[in-house]
Amino acid sequence: MVGRIRRFRRGDLGAILRIEANAFPKTAYDRFTFSYFASAYPDNFRVYIAGHEVVGYIIYYPDGHIVSVAVHARYRRMGVGTELVGEVLKRTRGDAIVEVRESNDAARAFYSHLGFVVQGIIPGYYGDEDAVVMLNQFSKEKGFTEKCLRSKLSFTKKV
Ligand SMILES: CC(C)(COP(=O)(O)OP(=O)(O)OC[C@H]1O[C@@H](n2cnc3c(N)ncnc32)[C@H](O)[C@@H]1OP(=O)(O)O)[C@@H](O)C(=O)NCCC(=O)NCCS
Repeated sequence: MVGRIRRFRRGDLGAILRIEANAFPKTAYDRFTFSYFASAYPDNFRVYIAGHEVVGYIIYYPDGHIVSVAVHARYRRMGVGTELVGEVLKRTRGDAIVEVRESNDAARAFYSHLGFVVQGIIPGYYGDEDAVVMLNQFSKEKGFTEKCLRSKLSFTKKV
């Protein structure tokens, strides 16, 4: 896929909300959540542009903790998600971690493909479901997982 990645701009919000509603029908972030990330972490909210269209986004904390990534359904399996996560890895020099719904087979396959490995499970993280914690296998910093997750629920069950 030929496109480019840039910072989120306010005018992207409509397209992002549509991608989000389709990607996460029950748990979509609303405009206030996206606006919060855009103002709190302006450099870490990136969008993928194909032609003139916003076709995906990623939000991550500066330490490499991925908050959310989604690609327009019509543009999946074209490498857009890979490029978005690649952007994070480039900027954190390899440190990245993410929680994924246990039932989200596509996302788990996606992160595995990118070299992420399962670190453990956070029971009940989503209320109705556990989270699988996946870490980029090339994350370098010792204690990175614990540092990223220190504010989260008990990080107990290993898989
Ligand atoms: C997960 C997601 C971001 C992947 O984006 P994408 O642009 O389609 O991913 P890529 O094209 O870069 O995929 C790279 C590789 O990941 C794997 N992969 C991606 N989607 C997959 C799927 N649905 N099933 C199995 N493997 C998959 C494949 O190995 C793929 O390589 P291939 O197409 O050559 O086989 C996208 O499916 C999406 O937006 N899903 C809904 C939102 C979501 O679940 N986000 C993640 C939770 S935070």
